[in-house]
Amino acid sequence: MIKKVVLVTGSSSGIGFAISKEFAENQGSTVLVCSRNINDAIRASQRIKGNTHAVQLDVTKEKDIRSVVKGVLSDHGGIDILVNSAGYRFDKAIWYKKYHQMTDRALDAILEVDLKGTIHMTRAFLPSMIRKTSRSGGVSGVIINIASTPALSGQKEGAPYTIAKAAVVAVTKHIALEYGNKKIRAYTLALGNIATDATYYSMTKRGRNKAVSEPAMKRWGSVEEVAKVAACLGSESFSYTTGNTIIIDGGKVIV
Ligand SMILES: NC(=O)c1ccc[n+]([C@@H]2O[C@H](COP(=O)([O-])OP(=O)(O)OC[C@H]3O[C@@H](n4cnc5c(N)ncnc54)[C@H](OP(=O)(O)O)[C@@H]3O)[C@@H](O)[C@H]2O)c1
Repeated sequence: MIKKVVLVTGSSSGIGFAISKEFAENQGSTVLVCSRNINDAIRASQRIKGNTHAVQLDVTKEKDIRSVVKGVLSDHGGIDILVNSAGYRFDKAIWYKKYHQMTDRALDAILEVDLKGTIHMTRAFLPSMIRKTSRSGGVSGVIINIASTPALSGQKEGAPYTIAKAAVVAVTKHIALEYGNKKIRAYTLALGNIATDATYYSMTKRGRNKAVSEPAMKRWGSVEEVAKVAACLGSESFSYTTGNTIIIDGGKVIV
């Protein structure tokens, strides 16, 4: 097994946490567990067995990003895998608005984290990833961006979220095409209903049941099911595959 250095944004909870746990506990990776609050990052990294380091990171702050890049280069010589999982918190006041009711404030808030956070993190880490892969004898650098099925299918509400995640798909495709010859691979995970505190555990029973009725598999997905896919993509098993959008939704959006 190749030991890789993995950075996961927004990994104090939910999907980011599960991906960190999978890489550290089952893939033998060194994982940088990130939160805007260093104490939350420490608490999350302590809940994972294996080699983890807690990192304070707000993806909307260029200063934070620069300082994380600097620290990672000096402590680990760079990263092999970047997972952009940080997402603006689920806000009913934004999500349940129709398109014509969308405010610039709501749009900017979501674009800042979900889209620009992904863009800025990727831009900041690409140069050192390329340097690392050029010395690694065949091991590629991997960028995994977390999006959502509305990015592909549209949605009847919550347009800022759909727009941000659709643009994330475009970011992935650009990275794949521009840096494929530098041994960088890129993927989007388009997620359906995955049970986390931000979704399942903050919804009414009616909302949960409605979500269950949507996919062919008639159930919610688990964070571990997402993490297993991320680990596969990060491995060399996917060495001739890049730019793809992998839908993890139990069979609701099938393209
Ligand atoms: N769960 C689902 O059904 C589902 C479906 C489709 C897509 N997704 C996507 O999957 C990702 C994870 O979602 P989740 O359900 O696991 O929700 P979550 O538990 O709320 O995770 C989101 C994480 O993002 C972090 N975050 C928020 N703003 C940030 C910022 N400015 N800078 C850095 N980190 C920030 C939060 O960490 P701190 O507060 O500790 O900083 C939090 O850990 C999101 O991108 C979400 O859009 C989820």
